[in-house]
Amino acid sequence: MMVVRFVCLARLSERWIPWMRRALQLAALADGHTSPNPLVGAVVLDAAGTLAGEGFHARAGDPHAEVGALAQAGERAKGGTLVVTLEPCCHHGRTPPCTEAVIQAGIRRVVVALTDPDSRVAGGGLQRLRDAGLEVIPGVLEAAAAHQNRAFVHRVKTGRPWGLLKWAMSLDGRTALPNGASQWISGAAARAWVHRLRAHCDAVIVGGGTVRADDPLLTSRGLRTPEPLRVVLSRSLDLPAAARLWTTAEAPTLLAHGPAVEATDGESAPLLEAFGAAGVIATALPRCEPLALLEHLASRGCNRVLWECGPALAAAALQQDCVQELAVVIAPKLLGGLAARTPLGELGFTAMDQVIPLQGLTLQRLERDVVVQSLVPPLSAAGVRAHRDPGRPDRRDPPVHRCND
Ligand SMILES: NC(=O)c1ccc[n+]([C@@H]2O[C@H](COP(=O)([O-])OP(=O)(O)OC[C@H]3O[C@@H](n4cnc5c(N)ncnc54)[C@H](OP(=O)(O)O)[C@@H]3O)[C@@H](O)[C@H]2O)c1
Repeated sequence: MMVVRFVCLARLSERWIPWMRRALQLAALADGHTSPNPLVGAVVLDAAGTLAGEGFHARAGDPHAEVGALAQAGERAKGGTLVVTLEPCCHHGRTPPCTEAVIQAGIRRVVVALTDPDSRVAGGGLQRLRDAGLEVIPGVLEAAAAHQNRAFVHRVKTGRPWGLLKWAMSLDGRTALPNGASQWISGAAARAWVHRLRAHCDAVIVGGGTVRADDPLLTSRGLRTPEPLRVVLSRSLDLPAAARLWTTAEAPTLLAHGPAVEATDGESAPLLEAFGAAGVIATALPRCEPLALLEHLASRGCNRVLWECGPALAAAALQQDCVQELAVVIAPKLLGGLAARTPLGELGFTAMDQVIPLQGLTLQRLERDVVVQSLVPPLSAAGVRAHRDPGRPDRRDPPVHRCND
């Protein structure tokens, strides 16, 4: 009996897969623009199963995907089916609950990929639809929808944005010559790809070391409006007075530092004042650490951040589970030199069973360069728990940021 039921359910879901693929495509159109909200796409079919409306959530504050698709369908939504990548919301946020719009439009059946992890929804939207007499088919292409919305889901569950760490290196694993020269390791196509990567992120983070060494610009070169927030994390505030990051007309910059600088160092006050006058947002964190920075960025509505820092901060970010994904550009060049820089600072491993095993590897060619991308498991799952600094904050209940509506 159980097997028959499973086969029936699978057949029931299969019918909706092409439409859910289309809804996922629609959702992807706004990738990088919806934070703190999720990506959502929706399709409305009329009672005969013909396409009647399409919609996607374009940015926070704009109508939700379901509402756009229902508006396009108009009267044809009556007795029809809504196919949507994320559970419709059932709470009042910046917009009214989508469940009510779906019910009022006369929809008979709702097909959903992913349950909304937001505690204000978390299955409540599906229940509201069932209670109103609608047929609900959940879990269609759920894994694909979870992957598409991995940044949003991670931020809701942990209280921190999804971290993507990127570096460019030579085939012999160097990121700069022994004298620090590093521009350019990768070719023009890979650099343009990085601009596109930034356009899908809410913030781009470097440490003080990269500002001093490279004077980076860190914009998407106009591919994203507004540009991602450029973030500098510095303990010392020993930063150049003139740097391209301090010009904020093109893109905003946030300078994050620890509490001690303001409290003890009189020299930093005029510097912070000058940065403030230039429009740089100075922020004192409770601790000058990647984790504290991410908690702050989550409170500013960031779902996904790009770590474009050097080895010191990259290692610290990995050690605090602030990196969930990796993108490495490998250029067919040999730099050599024992003193040349490598992408990662000390991680404290002493045995091979402690190292971080990467998952879900993908490769792509960009002219002469190769980009390797992978997922990074939490260090607690990678057998390196013993190497955490016990004084450092570890996994805790996520701070609640009520900003996704
Ligand atoms: N090839 C690439 O993809 C790539 C990308 C970026 C950088 N780089 C290279 O990396 C080199 C710079 O390396 P880096 O390691 O100095 O750069 P970094 O990691 O960007 O900066 C390190 C700095 O981050 C700040 N920081 C604040 N809190 C920290 C914490 N908890 N842990 C660690 N750092 C913290 C400190 O700044 P303060 O000293 O100001 O306090 C620290 O000196 C340059 O040669 C640059 O060209 C290469």
